[in-house]
Amino acid sequence: MDIEFLNENMMGPNAWLIAEELTANLHLKRGMRVLDLGCGRGLTSVFLAEKFGVQVFAVDLWTTATENYNRFKEAGVSNLIVPLQLDALQLPFAEGFFDVVVSVDSYHYFGNNDFYFEKTLKPILKEDAIVAIAFPGMKYEVHDNIPEEMKPLWDEEALKMWHSIDWWKRKFEPYLTEFQIAEMDCFDRAWNDWLSCDNPYAVEDRLMIQTDNGRFMNLIKLTGKIR
Ligand SMILES: C[S@@+](CC[C@H](N)C(=O)[O-])C[C@H]1O[C@@H](n2cnc3c(N)ncnc32)[C@H](O)[C@@H]1O
Repeated sequence: MDIEFLNENMMGPNAWLIAEELTANLHLKRGMRVLDLGCGRGLTSVFLAEKFGVQVFAVDLWTTATENYNRFKEAGVSNLIVPLQLDALQLPFAEGFFDVVVSVDSYHYFGNNDFYFEKTLKPILKEDAIVAIAFPGMKYEVHDNIPEEMKPLWDEEALKMWHSIDWWKRKFEPYLTEFQIAEMDCFDRAWNDWLSCDNPYAVEDRLMIQTDNGRFMNLIKLTGKIR
């Protein structure tokens, strides 16, 4: 993995570290069809293709397919990855198409409700498909009692998306076996890698993470298999 490629393409906490931890105990095998949902600039897609030799459908809303295709060529894995610019709310895939869905730092944008997983995502996954999702969240639900010092640093839109492990657990537990949800071990390293890069959004996030000082924000991973 090339550190320059990582620094140029990070859009949040280090997606390679997150993907590594998220997939550590999963049985991903060459040839599996993987949906990388909200892949951004494709860091996780490159990781999955390089490490496991899986076939990746790299879906993102903000990043064009051509930008990602060029990056996948640069990384030497374009033969394994199909770049697609799509809205996760309207996925045009066949029912039961994917063996695996991986989603890093994006699911909270579109899946933070009671229906997305059941109605939109689950139908395009195979029976027994592997689900592996990670996103920023909260240590507990702070929404009714926002600490004064965090008020200027958390915008309302973000707060609607950031929730606790207990909150997310209820969204997935009915649909997954072997279900696990926990704070990520790479929390500090993944955030520090992001905060120390020169992306202007990372520079903005520095004060938020410093002020939080490990009290409220979280980085959550969940894995399981479709029931
Ligand atoms: C913070 S970035 C993270 C990108 C990448 N997964 C990573 O970790 O580097 C959030 C990503 O979520 C994607 N996203 C947000 N809403 C989406 C939607 N409705 N459909 C598809 N992707 C979406 C954005 O396009 C953006 O690339």
